[in-house]
Amino acid sequence: MFRRPRRNRKTAAIREMVQENQVRVQDLIFPLFVIDGQNKKIEVASMPGIYRYSTDQLLKEIDSCMELGLRTFDLFPSIDDSLKDKYASEAYREGSMYLNAIAKVKETFPECCIMTDIAMDPYSSDGHDGIFENGEILNDPTLEVLSNMALAQAQAGADILGPSDMMDGRVAHMREALDINNFPNVSIMSYTAKYASAYYGPFRDALDSAPKAGDKKTYQMNPANSREALIEAELDMVEGADFLMVKPALSYLDIIQLLNENFELPIAAYNVSGEYSMVKAAHQKGWLDGQQIMNETLISLKRAGAKVILTYFAKEFALQEAKEA
Ligand code: PBG
Repeated sequence: MFRRPRRNRKTAAIREMVQENQVRVQDLIFPLFVIDGQNKKIEVASMPGIYRYSTDQLLKEIDSCMELGLRTFDLFPSIDDSLKDKYASEAYREGSMYLNAIAKVKETFPECCIMTDIAMDPYSSDGHDGIFENGEILNDPTLEVLSNMALAQAQAGADILGPSDMMDGRVAHMREALDINNFPNVSIMSYTAKYASAYYGPFRDALDSAPKAGDKKTYQMNPANSREALIEAELDMVEGADFLMVKPALSYLDIIQLLNENFELPIAAYNVSGEYSMVKAAHQKGWLDGQQIMNETLISLKRAGAKVILTYFAKEFALQEAKEA
């Protein structure tokens, strides 16, 4: 036997030397849920360790993350039902809780990177990402709402906008609105290949944003398809996106790899709520080691070709790294 691959696994020193991929805290984006009020920190029942924060508590959480070297945050608003309407007007109302929270975070931590979410669902009385009429999602009228959101969030200080709505033409529409209004430096991380997935369940609990009627299958992608992801990626690229995202992550490692091989833009993977909840639930039952699963999950996303990872494990990972250092 001339070839013995086990020689390269014989000690920790050699294993680490030949390790091809690694996860860095700087690669991670931590999604955070924001609610109205003061002094509130409410755990999401289906996501142990993940909370909805009022802005004052959000600042504390971000501060503790920044100390661990984690500095990019994706903010999602949880809105009271009384503020929801058909056209998601709360989404771009000046002085809204969400826009104020973005501004406050940027003012307090100018060096952090704030990503925001663009889609109507947290503010829509129909619980859909676009305007819902007679059982249909209206694509083009929705683009106006999305661009209004983009401008309001850019104005508030967002660094990266995350259109998660899957309407056709949204990236070009908001890129144009941003450029005309003098926000050429605001980035767009497009939810390029966002699949119609049951893994979003716990997130919809957190935001109380589940669709009231129907599902999201006329805009989110069919889990059976991969070629369609190339079309979406091509469009996002020419429309001006700065990052291409795949979501969910673990069931779509092949899509991450496909986009990484075919596009030069950095690829992001969203390790979504349900992927987090499954690990936590099994860990709580003592059925597997949650920390090891976290590490195996994150490294698998890097191996598949993700440059950036959005994950609810971000702080836990950063804590682990700080302990080991
Ligand atoms: C909605 C949105 C969703 C997520 C991010 N933005 C859910 C959905 O499409 O219903 C899911 C994130 C997660 O599950 O962690 N625009």
